[in-house]
Amino acid sequence: MSSYDVIIIGSGPGGYVAAIRCAQLGLKVACVEGRETLGGTCLNVGCIPSKALLHASHMLHEAEHNFAEMGLKGKSPSVDWKQMQSYKQGTVDTNTKGIEFLFKKNKIDWLKGWGSIPEAGKVKVGDEVHEAKNIIIATGSEPSSLPGVEVDENVVVTSTGALTLGKVPKKMVVIGAGVIGLELGSVYSRLGSEVTVVEFLDAITPGMDPEVQKVFQRTLKKQGLEFIMGAAVQKTEATKTKAKVHYKLRKDDSEHVLDADVVLVATGRKPYHDGLDLEALGIRMTKRGQIAITKEWQTDVKGIYAIGDVTEGPMLAHKAEDEGMAVAEVIAGKHGHVNYGIIPGVIYTHPEVANVGETEASLKEAGRAYKVGKFSFMGNARAKANFAGDGFVKILADKETDRILGAHIIGPAAGDLIHEVCVAMEFGASAQDLAMTCHAHPTYSEAVREAALACGDGPIHA
Ligand code: FAD
Ligand code: NAI
Repeated sequence: MSSYDVIIIGSGPGGYVAAIRCAQLGLKVACVEGRETLGGTCLNVGCIPSKALLHASHMLHEAEHNFAEMGLKGKSPSVDWKQMQSYKQGTVDTNTKGIEFLFKKNKIDWLKGWGSIPEAGKVKVGDEVHEAKNIIIATGSEPSSLPGVEVDENVVVTSTGALTLGKVPKKMVVIGAGVIGLELGSVYSRLGSEVTVVEFLDAITPGMDPEVQKVFQRTLKKQGLEFIMGAAVQKTEATKTKAKVHYKLRKDDSEHVLDADVVLVATGRKPYHDGLDLEALGIRMTKRGQIAITKEWQTDVKGIYAIGDVTEGPMLAHKAEDEGMAVAEVIAGKHGHVNYGIIPGVIYTHPEVANVGETEASLKEAGRAYKVGKFSFMGNARAKANFAGDGFVKILADKETDRILGAHIIGPAAGDLIHEVCVAMEFGASAQDLAMTCHAHPTYSEAVREAALACGDGPIHA
């Protein structure tokens, strides 16, 4: 039996970051991981492989749609799916091995296998029981499906199966117009699949700024994705090579069927804590099956903490990472902090979509007076040169104080641009502070400055 200051269960962005920070703070640390490789959902079957496929398929899209106009003539590249898969896997491998290297560098023991907690202060892996003064549960999440939809990861797939399809399907039906559905739907649409997205609600990406939703859906439609909105999927029927998707339109209850070679089920994810028997330990769960925690990530059992997708809050890698760092600080007797009001969300389609902070709807609900500064990428020289004029930056600021309350961006590099606003918000900046900051020309970030100017006397290029 070995004993540790901290044992972390799960090596995703929450777990591995917590492990590294604990080690940096002088604690003796082990991390339990049952997968063959470190890095969790994010590095193995989530953020990283999906972004590799988005990058490769975007390059193809550029070659097919924009190269000739720039004077780059010649046949567009054809898809070598096997090679694209191996590029994607290579990216995953470098990243997961990178975490293994960081574990060695920081003297973190990787306890290989599936862990359980027989009692507070103990973690069991295989036949061995280890002692831990503190335990962090960072076991992540798994895809959730629908009644009547049986996933076989071959024809009816979750995101995990969609990342490793044997071939590019001719027809793909995506259930759910959320983040996964639109990112992976975009990938296959760019690679030549006919993609139809079936969504229960009347707008894509629930919770997002309605103007962004509208431009986003219009742009994706232009790129070839089809949408069936207000449609509740009832069931799927699959053979070894084909599937049928049955859905009902909510407006008139009419029933319809779609044929597909592959069905991607992208209707959300749920916390994963199989095998931990948390309730027997006295750990309280929320109604949504998440581990209930205090402000300092402490569960109902002293010395057992929980972070990341398995707890409350957005299921995002960077949220898990921030909690990983913060909980390590708390365990080491310092002050850990996560600002949940400033967690950006990014969708890595083309154009990218990004948001942070309040929406107009949340401000209206709170009865807070606000002003809107909006600027279209059509007025941004760099975007126009790069065929990226679709989209806009919208900044929301307090009507009285001018303090920035939120931002919503659809357009080129939105996922990077949003961080300028995040930093401004962390420092309590006003829209005028952002507007008075010199921005290099010609950059996409000038659009952010112009939106900030639009909160005051007005933008220059509109
Ligand atoms: P996870 O990454 O899920 O890691 C948990 C780990 O714990 C797993 O490796 C699991 O094997 C291990 N584990 C579980 N139980 C045990 C046990 N009992 N013993 C040992 N090990 C155990 N988020 C973003 O922010 N940006 C993105 O671009 C993005 N893209 C995504 C794309 C896809 C297709 C998917 C599915 C998700 C994406 N996400 C993205 C979400 C992101 O992956 C998660 O929010 C993030 O991985 C959560 O981190 P975590 O540490 O909480 O858990
Ligand atoms: P999601 O919650 O984003 O979207 C699910 C969609 O499915 C919703 O629009 C919902 O209305 C719809 N839906 C539910 N039931 C339906 C039905 N019966 N018929 C038709 N539509 C139905 O979930 P998604 O896309 O599976 O992603 C899960 C999580 O993974 C996200 O919440 C996100 O946190 C994370 N993620 C983040 C990424 C990023 O940050 N870029 C990328 C991919 C995933």
